[in-house]
Amino acid sequence: MILVTGGAGFIGANFVLDWLAQSDEPVINLDKLTYAGNLNNLASLRDDPRHVFVKGDIGDTALVASLLATHQPRALLHFAAESHVDRSILGPAAFIETNVNGTFALLEAVRAYWGGLPEADKSAFRFLHVSTDEVYGTLGPDDAPFTETTAYAPNSPYSASKAASDHLVRAYHHTYGLPTLTTNCSNNYGPYHFPEKLIPLIITNARAGKALPIYGDGQQVRDWLYVSDHCAAIRRVLAAGRLGETYNIGGWNEMANLDVVHTLCDILDVLDPKERSPLREAVGRGMDASYRDQITTVTDRPGHDRRYAIDAGKIERELGWKPAETFETGIRKTVQWYLDHQEWVRDVHSGDYLKWVEKQYGR
Ligand code: NAD
Ligand code: TYD
Repeated sequence: MILVTGGAGFIGANFVLDWLAQSDEPVINLDKLTYAGNLNNLASLRDDPRHVFVKGDIGDTALVASLLATHQPRALLHFAAESHVDRSILGPAAFIETNVNGTFALLEAVRAYWGGLPEADKSAFRFLHVSTDEVYGTLGPDDAPFTETTAYAPNSPYSASKAASDHLVRAYHHTYGLPTLTTNCSNNYGPYHFPEKLIPLIITNARAGKALPIYGDGQQVRDWLYVSDHCAAIRRVLAAGRLGETYNIGGWNEMANLDVVHTLCDILDVLDPKERSPLREAVGRGMDASYRDQITTVTDRPGHDRRYAIDAGKIERELGWKPAETFETGIRKTVQWYLDHQEWVRDVHSGDYLKWVEKQYGR
């Protein structure tokens, strides 16, 4: 079996769902269920014996050691993190605690477990660390995209904490021989994305008739990748990645934020026109019929990175992975998913998904 950390979050949940859709190899899912962890993401697995959910902290070494000893996983995939740049600006401490100290504690527990494995299991074991392109800092408009040898230059508390965790993983490979793999991926989008991040925030705010906040001039560029493509890349790296290596993962799809928001508004105008939505009365009272009209410019994020872009040539050359979705196909699926899962959105906005946690784990 495999052990996944952070499997109730956006990418982790998509990974667990994709994994169990393609294989019967069981998953132990260790997640602290912070505000970003949502068991509704895994509702379809509630009665599935292949999925064992454990509420806990990656920094709890005794818990991690006991999970490793009990379940003897052949691999650990480390998704758990504090992941939102704006939150890291308001309160960096949690990012250091989980992303740096938590990853360190996890590595220590894994090192002890791995050191005690029989030789064959020891060489087959993998620690796959899921990281971000944000560790490379920011690009100018004419700079070449990030490669695996681009120097680290993180600019936010979030990216600095992820950079630190990448360095620890690297050191555990070089010093102790731990069989590690690291992936640095660009911005993801897709189902179960928490609506604090740009794409789900715009979709949910638009439908609620709220303002669509664009930081600064909206010309910051991100390289968007559909989440199931990220999951496929991780499975590929786990299966065939070279030990100690890092692999950049990206969508070959750079877009300015304002263009992303325009695209979302235009898709919503077609799939959920205001005249046929709960906003029709507001339209009757004079609200503009196009969602684009809700776009509002707000104060820019401090230290806002201007451009990210990934050169995903290495993973394509070495492991034969490339994205299956284009932005056009992926973003349409994503908008449709949010339209089809209004209860999921309501539970997030009302906080009801947290009440389930209280009910289940309060005692
Ligand atoms: P997320 O915030 O949606 O989910 C994080 C999950 O980790 C949550 O379920 C949370 O409860 C859990 N968690 C947080 N602290 C924990 C702790 N101390 N112990 C156990 N569980 C804990 O994040 P995401 O967007 O799914 O990102 C997952 C990983 O992928 C992160 O490591 C992130 O840095 C990386 N990443 C994200 C993106 C992106 O666009 N979202 C891009 C590249 C890389
Ligand atoms: P985000 O989804 O927070 O991802 P990241 O900061 O990790 O790239 O933001 C994506 C881009 O969208 C980023 O340039 C910041 C911008 N943004 C806005 O313009 N308005 C918003 O309300 C949010 C949340 C983000």
